[in-house]
Amino acid sequence: MEQRVVMITGANSGIGKDAALKFAMEGFTVVMGCRDLEYSRQVQEEIIAKSHHDRVTLMEVDLSSFESIRCFCEKFKGAFDRLDILIHNAAYFKHGAEHKLSPDNIEITFATNVFGPFLMTSLLLDVLRKSNDARILHAGSNIIKEFFDPKKEIEFDKLQGEIEDKKSYSVYKMYCQSKMALLMLTFKMAEEFKDDGIKVNALQINGAKMSKRTLKNIKHGWREIAYVQNLFFPEPSYMASKYFAICTSDDFKETTGKLFNDKLEVMQPAPAEYPGFVKNMKQVLGRDVYSSYAENKQVMEKVWNLSEELTESYRILKDKEPVG
Ligand SMILES: NC(=O)c1ccc[n+]([C@@H]2O[C@H](COP(=O)([O-])OP(=O)(O)OC[C@H]3O[C@@H](n4cnc5c(N)ncnc54)[C@H](OP(=O)(O)O)[C@@H]3O)[C@@H](O)[C@H]2O)c1
Repeated sequence: MEQRVVMITGANSGIGKDAALKFAMEGFTVVMGCRDLEYSRQVQEEIIAKSHHDRVTLMEVDLSSFESIRCFCEKFKGAFDRLDILIHNAAYFKHGAEHKLSPDNIEITFATNVFGPFLMTSLLLDVLRKSNDARILHAGSNIIKEFFDPKKEIEFDKLQGEIEDKKSYSVYKMYCQSKMALLMLTFKMAEEFKDDGIKVNALQINGAKMSKRTLKNIKHGWREIAYVQNLFFPEPSYMASKYFAICTSDDFKETTGKLFNDKLEVMQPAPAEYPGFVKNMKQVLGRDVYSSYAENKQVMEKVWNLSEELTESYRILKDKEPVG
């Protein structure tokens, strides 16, 4: 039987690494999309050794750079003529870091977590269409619970170029908004790609132990919080097994445009939003509902249109042309 091909971004650590190992153990052809080749090569070797499976390929990609993504997709299509599973796992969450722009002049969190994955999906659409059961998975976060506060919104005026008020800039805020934007793209992509048979879903991650490498990158203050959280969070392999289930189980073969919780239940939009998130602990602590902001069609269109515009993917998505 021909091996199914899975591509996982940020597969050198945490959940992405454990997912790469899981897929390799199960006999999939695994492509690790990583930016730090030197470090990631050791991880690739570790996965090959543990899984006794040598079809684990490492390919360079920096999700914050459109040029790097274009280059990666070209190389990917030179090596593989089909893609069955695409997992957008990589994310920027350097809490406490200063305002930074991507090489394309986009706020770094949104460049890495939203527009980069959007461009990659667009450029890989032609190879995804060749699969008889193509599935895309976005790594979501329970941080979007902040959107239960009706005042919360995506600040579109902070996404490009320098911002005036750098002091009020917060990676935490941008990360929260980026995960909401990614969820909106999940819903919209599911609609757009329905006719192609490509399923698009998201998993809401409540927490997973962070690696030493990741903790090192988080600023003092935030790092201590993460250390404490690590005491309570499950191992990354737990979430990796959820990635695997959503992307391979026959139970979800026809499921698209959904947000899953870690029990693999489909979450629902909240029937009503509450002012401030202390007021309704059921919503904030629960794992059943997400803020109805995620289904705001106007904002969703805005996220989609901006993604198309910034990544210049309009032609690719509309014309269904294979792109080199
Ligand atoms: N852990 C949690 O508690 C938690 C909670 C909610 C959501 N999540 C989500 O789960 C996913 C995995 O997180 P994790 O906890 O496993 O964190 P992690 O171990 O730090 O993994 C993040 C991965 O993303 C990669 N990455 C970051 N920026 C990149 C870029 N520009 N180009 C390419 N790769 C890039 C990192 O690569 P480098 O090694 O090169 O930095 C790393 O491999 C993320 O989407 C995160 O938002 C995690």
